[in-house]
Amino acid sequence: MYFTGFVCVKCGAVYPPDQDLLLCPACQNLLEAQYAYARLGRDLDRDALWRRPHTVWRWLELLPVRDPDKIVTLGEGGSPLLRSERLARLCGVRELWVKSDATSNPTGSLKDRSITVAATKAREFGYGILSCDSTGNKASSAAAYAARAGLRSVVFCPYETPLPKMAQAVFFGAELIRVKGHYSEINAMYRRLIHSRQVKWYDCGTDNPFRYEGKKTYAYEIAQELGWKVPDRVLHPAGGGMSLVKTWKGFNELKTLGWVDRLPRMTAVQARDCAPIVDAWARGDREVTGIEKKPTVASALGVADPGLLGNRTLEMIRASDGAAAGVTDEEILTATRWLAQEGLFVEPSGAVTLAGLPKLVASGHVDRDESVVCVVTGSGFKDFERIAQMVRIPERVISGYDEMVAVATALG
Ligand SMILES: Cc1ncc(COP(=O)(O)O)c(C=O)c1O
Ligand SMILES: [Zn+2]
Repeated sequence: MYFTGFVCVKCGAVYPPDQDLLLCPACQNLLEAQYAYARLGRDLDRDALWRRPHTVWRWLELLPVRDPDKIVTLGEGGSPLLRSERLARLCGVRELWVKSDATSNPTGSLKDRSITVAATKAREFGYGILSCDSTGNKASSAAAYAARAGLRSVVFCPYETPLPKMAQAVFFGAELIRVKGHYSEINAMYRRLIHSRQVKWYDCGTDNPFRYEGKKTYAYEIAQELGWKVPDRVLHPAGGGMSLVKTWKGFNELKTLGWVDRLPRMTAVQARDCAPIVDAWARGDREVTGIEKKPTVASALGVADPGLLGNRTLEMIRASDGAAAGVTDEEILTATRWLAQEGLFVEPSGAVTLAGLPKLVASGHVDRDESVVCVVTGSGFKDFERIAQMVRIPERVISGYDEMVAVATALG
């Protein structure tokens, strides 16, 4: 095992690898997993890793797991990295790659990357129930991995969560609790409940430092797929922002291991109507201020007050010399259509990166000569009602071969 424990990002306290932790017990800030990088660098041959199955668990030694027999997997991660000349032209950059977590994860979103680790830790620590608060995707993922592990699940979602996400969670057997209010309000109550220790659930929510480690596998996959070359920039949709933070950590780890020789710029994209991280970045603030929640088509990113995660995200955008952009609902829906023209079925929340890139090029924050990876994060099936509203199903119904021939020949 190479996982050596956690360090607090604020007070620097260190904790051993066998402890069941959420936030830093000393100061209630975020914890970050540490590894024996020097030993890892000696023992692991980066090129031999190709031979392992292409899932999150290809990177086992770089994940905070003590007992590989406890791994709960559905074949998550290992998503395609697709180059697109057309999207590069539309966005105005030299080279564009789409990292599609939308189209190949077991429950249809990026959340599977992190929930696989959380479910594994729940089994290691001997819990019987997985729980989380969620804008929908985390809930359906937690429900699926609980089912796979033979555990129960309890999930709390805003009452307006897209139906497919709620249905998916319930179908996997979750106890779904719909809550009045928007996500950040529910998050505050849910975290209070978990920290009060009134329930013995394994929290797969925003405080779990084990879970987040799964997300850094984005960086490993992108670098490996590009022959250990690092793109100039990675764009990620940001709710709380932890996916971006962990992707940045992943690239830094690769550099520490000597597997890559440079780092990308990390760029967050949020819905304009719920963009506290973007606003704080634009103001040059060090901390994110919660905002008044307005509705947006990117409901999965509806985090009005990202708290500690938001501050950390801001810090990492700065550390990487990155940027942030807010995009309107109209721009988001246009981006989902662009992706559809490429054969990619992506929910609006997952498509915001493609909406943000041309704006960042226009504003001069992204150079036209850059190579860019846009991560897309959730399947179109996850917000299917929204997508269905964007198309018109023909009224006409034909009958019989003659009509078929008539229609076909008219189409040419
Ligand atoms: C589809 C989708 N994309 C992106 C995110 C944002 O991830 P993070 O909260 O790590 O910024 C979420 C979170 O719910 C999501 O469901
Ligand atoms: Zn601390």
